[in-house]
Amino acid sequence: MKHAPPSRRDRLRHMLADLRLPGALEALDAILQGVDGGALTTPEAIEQLLSAQIQLRNNRRLQAAMRSSRLPAVKQLHDFDFTFQPSLRREQIESLHELGFVERAENVILLGPPGVGKTHLAISLAIAAAQSGRRVYYGTLADLIISLEEAQAAGRLQARLKVLTHPALLVVDEIGYLPISRTGAMLFFQLMTRRYERASTVLTSNKGFEEWGAIFGDEVLAAALIDRLVHHCHLVTIRGNSYRMRQHTELWQALHSPHDADPPSGRRRRTRQEVATP
Ligand SMILES: Nc1ncnc2c1ncn2[C@@H]1O[C@H](COP(=O)(O)OP(=O)(O)O)[C@@H](O)[C@H]1O
Ligand SMILES: [Mg+2]
Repeated sequence: MKHAPPSRRDRLRHMLADLRLPGALEALDAILQGVDGGALTTPEAIEQLLSAQIQLRNNRRLQAAMRSSRLPAVKQLHDFDFTFQPSLRREQIESLHELGFVERAENVILLGPPGVGKTHLAISLAIAAAQSGRRVYYGTLADLIISLEEAQAAGRLQARLKVLTHPALLVVDEIGYLPISRTGAMLFFQLMTRRYERASTVLTSNKGFEEWGAIFGDEVLAAALIDRLVHHCHLVTIRGNSYRMRQHTELWQALHSPHDADPPSGRRRRTRQEVATP
């Protein structure tokens, strides 16, 4: 008996498997149904098929990056509430996420008080870069310096500098929270000199440049560092309120009923006696 020839659906399944496109393969049936039922045009179907595969690939890249890059959390641009941070130019942040700056080995410096979203945006830039297939690495300034000091003590400084120069995007988070030793500052300076014009660094600080001399314990070194960092740099200054504080405020309000809504530092409620004798 003659076998029925494979259907178009079967041929497509084979092709997608042959090309190793599991995301598209998984989405195929639903998309074909959409076409058959008239819910999707052919261009829409092609678009959906390709984007299913791209989404799977990006998720895999994100998972790999979360393991290898030491990113502390998943924070993405679409989770960022711009209405809470009106001092930010949304177009600037969105265009940074298109990663032209990584292509050109430029830097991004995010400045602002605690809780305004500096780390969030630094991570979301790193995730965008990882999803585009680039190598990324995350560290706080303190962590990076410790790793350089340890490498130096073990006689492996050059190797460590090479490893940290390699990623197309390095996040240096939390400049200004912890004091830095003189050797630490010099080691970090060496790292930034290596990366200068070769690869992008995204830095965050709660202190303005005028305070970096104090952070690094050396005005001249800080000036030379800032000079290199800002040469090809996108400066993002966030002036708004702390998002953490907003969350705390909301929690506070949720926990207390309206008639009991005095803030913690607010006016003390009068005791029964005081109420009785105003
Ligand atoms: N505009 C925002 N929209 C959504 N989440 C935000 C926003 N700003 C900050 N957050 C969240 O608030 C917390 C503190 O932000 P973070 O980026 O760590 O602040 P910073 O690094 O400036 O101190 C994080 O959980 C972050 O995801
Ligand atoms: Mg932070």
